[in-house]
Amino acid sequence: MRGEYRPFASRADCRPAAPDGVARQAVHSIRLVPGFDNYGVMGNPVAHSKSPQIHAAFARQTGEPVAYQAIYVELDRFPAALDEFQRLGGKGLNITLPFKEAAWKSARVTSGRADRAHAVNTLWFDKHGKRHGDTTDGIGLIRDLTVNQDIQLSGKDVLVLGAGGAVRGILDPLFDQEPARVVIANRTISRAIELARLFLDRGELVACDYEALRGQRFHTVINGTSASLQGAVPPLPDDLLLPGACCYDMMYADTDTVFVTWARAHHADKALDGIGMLVEQAAESFHIWRGVRPETRPVIAMLRNS
Ligand code: ATR
Repeated sequence: MRGEYRPFASRADCRPAAPDGVARQAVHSIRLVPGFDNYGVMGNPVAHSKSPQIHAAFARQTGEPVAYQAIYVELDRFPAALDEFQRLGGKGLNITLPFKEAAWKSARVTSGRADRAHAVNTLWFDKHGKRHGDTTDGIGLIRDLTVNQDIQLSGKDVLVLGAGGAVRGILDPLFDQEPARVVIANRTISRAIELARLFLDRGELVACDYEALRGQRFHTVINGTSASLQGAVPPLPDDLLLPGACCYDMMYADTDTVFVTWARAHHADKALDGIGMLVEQAAESFHIWRGVRPETRPVIAMLRNS
């Protein structure tokens, strides 16, 4: 199992996809597809990304003339790769690990939610060449939870596991849902406290370690740790879930993640992985770029069946 998990935030690959979604050989230089508006995802590693497949599906569905490729970027080459993509006439980019903060710094105009997250996963260029940046990860999670899964967050106690970049990116849109309280639990409590300080103005927010979860029960638990990468689940109390609870893993894998398995074993009403979030954040990027909102359900179904 180890190594199979794909953190939501590090999806990407080195298989540039043609407009029809057919993977070509890995290349390290950028070549745009003539006759199309070109987009892509830059990352390192950029293997196993589903983004080219997702955006090819969106393009087919909407009839938008979009070509989307995965671009492997050497760790010290991100600014140069950005410049090159833009110079060649590329229209916009998704940015994945480890470049999200660098992308945020590179953008001249950024959204409030990107500034909070210190991350940009969606870049586009206006007619003057000015770079705009936004982050769609958090809204992707919230749309999957609230629209696709019909989970109500408003007035609820929500537990978020982890205090890294992935969690930082979801807190703003999470508070937009007006939960009663958000608890951030992390192995290293100082990181949870540090993160909580940045969002205290948004609502009721508590930072704690896993030990402090004893005796507390939640309606929604979101796993934003990278523990699944090690095949681990944070040490959670057995009676953590309220009846009807929803557990959501921001990661996904070909089989159930260990957190999804934990949730099922603890009788969660819903035990979900991050595939829906992945497609929803992509749809949000597509909407920013094209002004068209694609249907996400058939694309989520396609990925689950592939
Ligand atoms: P990302 O940008 O993907 O969020 P990160 O900033 O390295 O990556 O954060 C990883 C998160 O997963 C952290 O909250 C980390 O906990 P610590 O801050 O205590 O390191 C958490 N994490 C990773 N492995 C874990 C494990 N085995 N058990 C519990 N938490 C874990």
